[in-house]
Parts: sequence; C-alpha cells; structure tokens
Amino acid sequence: MSDISLLRAEFPILKQTENGQPLVYLDSAATTQKPQSVIDAITQYYTQENANVHRGVYGLSERATEKYEGAREKVRALLNAKSTQEIIFVRGATEAINLVAATWARDQLQAGDEVLITEMEHHSNIVPWQLLRDQLGIRLNVLRINALGEVCLNAMASMLTPKTKLVSITHMSNALGTINPVKEMIALAHGVGAKVMVDGAQAVAHMKVDVQDLNCDFYAFSGHKTYGPTGIGVLYGKQSLLEAMSPYQAGGDMIYSVTFEKTQYNVLPYKFEAGTPNIAGAIGLGVAVDFLNRVGQDAIGAYEHELMVYATEQLQTIDGLRIIGQAKNKGGVVSFVVEGVHPHDVATLMDQDGIAVRASHHCAMPVMQHFKVPSTIRASLGIYNNFEDIDRLVASVQEAIQMLR
Ligand SMILES: Cc1ncc(COP(=O)(O)O)c(C=O)c1O
Repeated sequence: MSDISLLRAEFPILKQTENGQPLVYLDSAATTQKPQSVIDAITQYYTQENANVHRGVYGLSERATEKYEGAREKVRALLNAKSTQEIIFVRGATEAINLVAATWARDQLQAGDEVLITEMEHHSNIVPWQLLRDQLGIRLNVLRINALGEVCLNAMASMLTPKTKLVSITHMSNALGTINPVKEMIALAHGVGAKVMVDGAQAVAHMKVDVQDLNCDFYAFSGHKTYGPTGIGVLYGKQSLLEAMSPYQAGGDMIYSVTFEKTQYNVLPYKFEAGTPNIAGAIGLGVAVDFLNRVGQDAIGAYEHELMVYATEQLQTIDGLRIIGQAKNKGGVVSFVVEGVHPHDVATLMDQDGIAVRASHHCAMPVMQHFKVPSTIRASLGIYNNFEDIDRLVASVQEAIQMLR
C-alpha cells in the first residue's frame, strides 16, 4: 500500500480548514475528492486542447479526440471489457441505468414480465423500473434484506421465474456498505434467462471490477465517485446487446447518415453518445483511472476496510449508538443512529468540528424504512482518510451527543 500521507497530499482540498478546523472529509460515497492530476488534466484540456471531438480535421480536434478516446480505452482496461465499443460515456450511474431502462428494457419487456431489484437499491435503481412498470405493466419484485443488511441467495433463487427478464442490483450499497455477491447473483439470474444490470456506483473506487469475470450484461458507474469529475460516467454493455438496442437520445455523432426519409445510426459506442459529449470530464476520468491503477483498487478496498472496522469498533463504544448495516462483506461505509438525538443535529454540530459526514436517507428510503429510522449519519471512506480522521469522528460524535442530550 502506498504511503497514505503522500496520497493524501495529492488532494488539494484536504489542505483547507472548515470552521477553523482541518477538514475531515467522510462523504466519499456522495462524491470523492479529486487528486491534483485530475484537476490538472481538466485545466490542461481547456487551456491547451479544447476542441470538439470526432469532427475537426485540424490538429487540435484530432488531439482532443485522441485524448477522449484514450480515456475510453483506459476505462475498458479498468473494467476488462472486451472492446471499447462496449464503453458508453454517460453523465453518471443514474443516466446509465435510465439508458438501459429507456432502450433495452423498453424494447424487450412486455406486460407481465418481471424485473427484480433488492431492497437496498439507490433510488436511481428503483424509480426507472417503477416508471416502466407504470408504462408497460411489468412487475417490479424486491429481494428483501436481513437484519444485517444482506441479501440471501436462496431467497433470490426462489424469486426468479421464467418471467424474470432483468435483475438490476447494486454491487455495493451506499447506505449500508454491504458488498453483494454479484457474481453468484448474476449466475442465478442467467439460469432463468434474465439479463443483469449491476449498479457499480459504489464499487469501482473500492474494488477490482472485471465485467467478463462477473459476466454481467450491463455495468454502471459514476466518474465523480471514482476520484474523477462530475458529469461523466460509464455504461458498460455486452456488445451483442448494445448492437440490438435502439438509440437513447438522437442528434449529432450518433448517426452515420441522415436524409428526411431515413437515418442510419452510427456504430458503437457512438450510437449512444448523441451530441457533444463531456470531453473534459472523460479526459479527467481517464486520469482518475490512472490514479486508481497506480494505487490499486483492491489495495484501496483493503485499507478502507481496516478503517471501517476501526471506526465501527470505536463508534460502538458510544452509549446508545447503533450501526445500521453489519454485513459480513462490507466496504468503507459506516451508517449509524444514536438513541435520543436526530442525525441532522449531530451532523450539523460535527460540521463545526470540520467533519463532513452525511445525515440523510442517502437516496435509499426503502433501506431507512427497513431499519425503521428516518435517516442515518453516514461516514464513508476514501483512500485519503486515516486513523486520525476516525478518532476525530468519534470524538466529535461524542461531543455532539453530550450537547444534544
Ligand atoms: C449505489 C448508487 N447508485 C447510484 C448512484 C447515483 O449516482 P449518480 O448520482 O452519480 O448518478 C449513487 C449515488 O450516490 C449510488 O450510491
């Protein structure tokens, strides 16, 4: 593992103070901070390389295109996809899931067909399927979680039927930290002929993801949760599926030829990238991928796991504190509630100590309903966090409770 203090120094925002205190950033599940290399790449693009892609025959445009397509190749290698044709640049995980719902699912599903999700999904992997349910008359089935915040593979197997056409599951829960056994879940789903979409928004920055090994049909993630910029993300799809899908949005770049009578669509991946893309975002994401490769996703995950275990142990010493989500296989997320105090009040007081944690439903209201809490305080980890951050977190929670009780 690289020296954490050296890695931490690569993130300029962490040098600043909040409310007079050194910033302790514990909201990486919402968005990660950005290393200087990513910030520099975006600045360099706008200062020296800015031109539209795929269109100009002049050098500047060719260089911008090279960088943009270079970023696609980096993402392909990161996910171990077979081809760059399987890597679609989108706005983020939300758009990736909506793309699959609006194209593949809309084309393939009919009234009575079933989509299976889990109870721990982010709203972005619930609401698109509810829209389709209302529009097409499909059924949306929910695989429940247990008291630890885990799914049960036997329960999943019993819910799969020949009518199950799609299983759409999160790789790691943003609200609980649970890492799902997605490879086994994909195999089960394929057993009844269902396709599988994996929401990897919380996974890619914390573990190695190999889409061929997983054998998922679609995989989504967001650049901004993987040390890259906002407004850029990735949809991976198996080439045969993407080839057969209708376009998502229509406009420039996604066409091969247009007459008023007929339009021929462009080849993959451009068929799904209508209009001028987020060029700077893709280039920045490419450099974030370099960062992930340099540090190593598995090494990041292992280090964050150590921090998560330490944070859990320390927090559990606090009277009346309950950890929400205690899965055996868990990433760097610690969600908790404290008896007699409101999460928002605790987090507001913690902000005074320079500690950024989230108090909310984390866009996973059904998880809150399952655990019968309105919201939780969530500390979520990134590679720049250290044990001192955890000590300050714990001390700040203790102080806040003393003030509020
Ligand atoms: C598990 C999960 N899925 C999807 C999303 C949506 O990501 P984005 O808002 O970047 O599209 C998030 C964001 O928090 C998430 O945690």
